[in-house]
Amino acid sequence: MSFSAVDVITTKREGGEISDAAISWFLDAYQRGDVAEEQMSALLMAIFFRGMDQRELRTWTDRMVASGETLDLRGLSRPSVDKHSTGGVGDKISLILAPLVGACGAAVPQLSGRGLGHTGGTLDKLESIPGWRASLSNEEIRQQLESVGAVICAAGAGLAPVDRRLYALRDVTGTVESIPLISSSIMSKKIAEGTQALVLDVKVGRGAFIKTIERARELAQTMVGLGEDHGVSTVAQLTSMDQPLGRAVGNSIEVVESVEVLRGGGPSDVRELTLALARLMLELVDINVDPREKLDDGSAYEVYRSMIAAQGGDPDAVLVPAPVREVVTSQASGWVSSLDARCVGVAAWRLGAGRARKEDPVSAGAGVMCLVREGEQVALGQPIFELYADDDEHLARGRETIQRAMTIGGDQPTLVPILLETITR
Ligand code: URA
Repeated sequence: MSFSAVDVITTKREGGEISDAAISWFLDAYQRGDVAEEQMSALLMAIFFRGMDQRELRTWTDRMVASGETLDLRGLSRPSVDKHSTGGVGDKISLILAPLVGACGAAVPQLSGRGLGHTGGTLDKLESIPGWRASLSNEEIRQQLESVGAVICAAGAGLAPVDRRLYALRDVTGTVESIPLISSSIMSKKIAEGTQALVLDVKVGRGAFIKTIERARELAQTMVGLGEDHGVSTVAQLTSMDQPLGRAVGNSIEVVESVEVLRGGGPSDVRELTLALARLMLELVDINVDPREKLDDGSAYEVYRSMIAAQGGDPDAVLVPAPVREVVTSQASGWVSSLDARCVGVAAWRLGAGRARKEDPVSAGAGVMCLVREGEQVALGQPIFELYADDDEHLARGRETIQRAMTIGGDQPTLVPILLETITR
């Protein structure tokens, strides 16, 4: 059946519903090149303002999944379960969580992306390990899931290819921050990945792209509904992203901090969030193992080592921060009332840890170490940040931003908990 692209656009523009057949036609025609980029841009803007109901969203997501290949994880001897985070600063949880849940007996297929803007990408972090390879074939993914229990690798170009084009288009048409468009974008890739179960870490706060709990709830509910409608058992955990997770924000320095947690130490917020997400993941696939034991007895660290080695990386490589370093000291004494995650993320990005365009390289060793966190006391002149960059120019750019990242007050602040709400259907 054929439709008029202009009719579909105007129907949505006027707040009407688009039929399943029209949605399928529109997306297929776009993929073939018969619907122009400007027509898709117009429809995206209409959806941005008018939204989509549950039926429209389900069909839209189906077509995005059907636009490419899907991974078949049935037949593995372990149940598969993945985690997706909507993106935060210092969010190194995947590096610890994937091997931890693998050590508990599940298969964790973490098909990830690279970072853009102030939140880092999991692949960029792991690529700071010499030899580590992000691209695996579908067969290599299956084999590693079976033998090791965890894979973190690049999502192949064949998974939901229409989403890639739509995401790039949304980026330049001001249509990123739409709940139906974000939900279908994230969930189409996870559904195509073939995981049986999924835990969503929906970040809310200064360092997240969702700033209010109400919107985070709405996004979580929409994604959970989409997952369940497509046969993926899905739960969402809302978590706060006002200050960075842990102390390290960068690439190699986050790998080093993750290894500290895998060896039983590391920052308490990283450990707490990892264990909470691990419990949700294990519950979804009926594995009755306490992840705390697997973290503390070294099993998760062993799986991490195997996971890195299986992809050509050297788990024993010593990762050193970038050579141009500077300690930033406190200009006041008192309590740290805020450590602005977004500001720290932007500083790390300017130091060289992130990219402005998707083809830009990133520095492995650049970043920010937060030496104190919210709720801690500082004295005048006490070191509060350590900055790492590859050259003086990057250092100067990061230094300028980090000055605004911390607020020091006279009163002990009340801290926001990291775990906010769990959302199920
Ligand atoms: N991540 C995605 O993959 N898609 C979005 O739309 C937003 C975040």
